[in-house]
Amino acid sequence: MQKLKLSNGTEIPQLGFGLWMIKDERVCNEAVAAALEAGYRHFDTAQIYTNEPFLGAALKAANVPREELFITTKIWNENMFWDDLIPSFEQSLTNLQTDYVDLLLLHFPVTELREPAWHRMQDIYKSGRAKAIGVSNYTIRHLQELLEKCDIKPTVNQVELHVYLQQPELLEFCKQHDILVEAYSPLAHGYDFTNEVLQDVARKHSKSVGQVMIRWCIQVGTVPLPKSTHKERIQENIDVFDFVLDDEDMQKLASLERDLRTCWSPVHVP
Ligand SMILES: NC(=O)c1ccc[n+]([C@@H]2O[C@H](COP(=O)([O-])OP(=O)(O)OC[C@H]3O[C@@H](n4cnc5c(N)ncnc54)[C@H](OP(=O)(O)O)[C@@H]3O)[C@@H](O)[C@H]2O)c1
Repeated sequence: MQKLKLSNGTEIPQLGFGLWMIKDERVCNEAVAAALEAGYRHFDTAQIYTNEPFLGAALKAANVPREELFITTKIWNENMFWDDLIPSFEQSLTNLQTDYVDLLLLHFPVTELREPAWHRMQDIYKSGRAKAIGVSNYTIRHLQELLEKCDIKPTVNQVELHVYLQQPELLEFCKQHDILVEAYSPLAHGYDFTNEVLQDVARKHSKSVGQVMIRWCIQVGTVPLPKSTHKERIQENIDVFDFVLDDEDMQKLASLERDLRTCWSPVHVP
């Protein structure tokens, strides 16, 4: 799979495997094994998902060289206090059975906590235990505030992004500031696979609706993080590099915008 370069030079596979809501150890093992077999090397977890230990064990069991993997975790909101952030990160490393993560994110722009928390993130980055640091669920306003105050810029902003929530202004802002956008819930969390426009485009390319949704995320310059616990869907979701949506397809898909948030919204967070 092609890799993109983050602003600090770290390489990131262009598509990752999401682990939110995979809570059962056996299900996690099987999903991660299926993902590795299908070719995924990029895994997106978080402290709050409570599956870091399962992911760590599944990756260890698979014996893939660590340098081939790209592992992301996220600092949960209540771990953003000054004295808690670094110990919580160290627990994440233990859970994941690794001595570094490839990408460490602040999970949410928690008012009052996000600024000091970023100082801690910078310390972790300088220690080499996170190859890159970034944020998640930041709006343009939150990014502007961070860019004005930080020493080390965020390399990534992971946000909800799919054909039903296209966020063009945020994409443009991030492009201008060399911040890579990761698209979470690229399948809109399973919201609607029956849409006629999506079905038409899928038929045209002999692909599934899910594949069109994921491909759209790639073509707007983001790194999608689809999640599935079904082997055939895990395979299907990575099989998106042998077709290209043309201008006509992209125009049709642009019409699907409906400001749909399937997860939490940071829009009104001061
Ligand atoms: N930073 C954040 O705040 C944040 C928030 C949300 C998500 N995320 C990240 O983004 C990842 C993905 O987001 P998500 O889990 O919300 O949703 P998603 O990947 O958009 O959609 C997952 C849903 O779609 C189903 N599905 C997967 N592939 C399918 C296919 N090919 N055809 C039909 N249905 C399919 C899955 O069911 P099955 O599993 O049953 O196949 C599941 O119900 C998360 O796992 C997490 O890593 C981050």
